[in-house]
Amino acid sequence: MKDLRIAVIGAGNMGQALLEGLVESGQVRPSRICASDRRKDRLTDLKKRLRICTESRNTAAVKKADIVVLAVKPQILDKVLIELKPALPTDCLLISIVAGFPTGLIEHLAGGKRRVVRAMPNIAAMVRMAATAICQGKQARKADMKLARRIFETCGTVTEVDESLMDAVTGLSGTGPMYIFIIIEALSDAGVRVGLGREQATQLAIQTILGAGEMVRSTGRHPIYLKDMVTSPGGTAINALYSLEKTGLRADLMDAVETATRRSAELGKPYAENKNS
Ligand SMILES: NC(=O)c1ccc[n+]([C@@H]2O[C@H](COP(=O)([O-])OP(=O)(O)OC[C@H]3O[C@@H](n4cnc5c(N)ncnc54)[C@H](OP(=O)(O)O)[C@@H]3O)[C@@H](O)[C@H]2O)c1
Repeated sequence: MKDLRIAVIGAGNMGQALLEGLVESGQVRPSRICASDRRKDRLTDLKKRLRICTESRNTAAVKKADIVVLAVKPQILDKVLIELKPALPTDCLLISIVAGFPTGLIEHLAGGKRRVVRAMPNIAAMVRMAATAICQGKQARKADMKLARRIFETCGTVTEVDESLMDAVTGLSGTGPMYIFIIIEALSDAGVRVGLGREQATQLAIQTILGAGEMVRSTGRHPIYLKDMVTSPGGTAINALYSLEKTGLRADLMDAVETATRRSAELGKPYAENKNS
């Protein structure tokens, strides 16, 4: 992978996180990575910090690229692809992290028989702790999936799914850090409400989330088993659980994931309808 040329189109939150992961991992030479964005200040900062190449024109960034990572917002992906189409090297691999755009639609917007891998990371890529799912477009090969896996492993864990599940992944883990941010904030508020200082309450909430996640991950135990471990008869945990069940926290989370899944499916629809009309 070291000598592959990688272009990242859109150097916002996710684009930058990926660029940092790639450079820090040492898997690709910085001189082989090129980022483009409409924000010149972002490009200047990236060039200085990561010693990668930058271009303010997307078409210049993809010239000679082996892999083009699409990291712009869904609302402008069609315009970006129409602009890129004539400049894309014939055999480059397109990797899209754009929510809601199926591989078939990306192939179509990029001019037909293109190798496309779709990925859904999350914002924790910024701290190399993302949960990413990848799926294979019709023209993509197994080797493309391996490459995509290596790229996203520089920012966290990677799992492969069928494309039909990508919107569900977007609803669960793509959007997921937001659920946890809100839970941390709510727990911190709750701590303050019962008398703790803000800083201590927030630190305790953060470490509790990290510790609970690590327990589920490292023990391999079902969360219900771990829940039973901490709910002693008549104790604090079982009383807190009763309160949560009354207000329906589980159903609220299920609703939120379903709503985000539906929204992901909607994002590419207007462009898919144009394609078919
Ligand atoms: N954020 C997440 O949690 C997350 C998680 C998984 C997947 N994603 C996907 O990742 C993609 C990027 O999200 P993000 O949060 O990184 O967004 P973002 O921070 O807004 O980054 C997009 C970048 O693209 C730039 N841009 C706008 N128009 C452009 C153009 N024509 N050519 C090149 N660059 C252009 C933007 O500049 P301006 O700021 O000036 O517009 C911005 O710097 C989205 O499609 C999203 O669905 C996001």
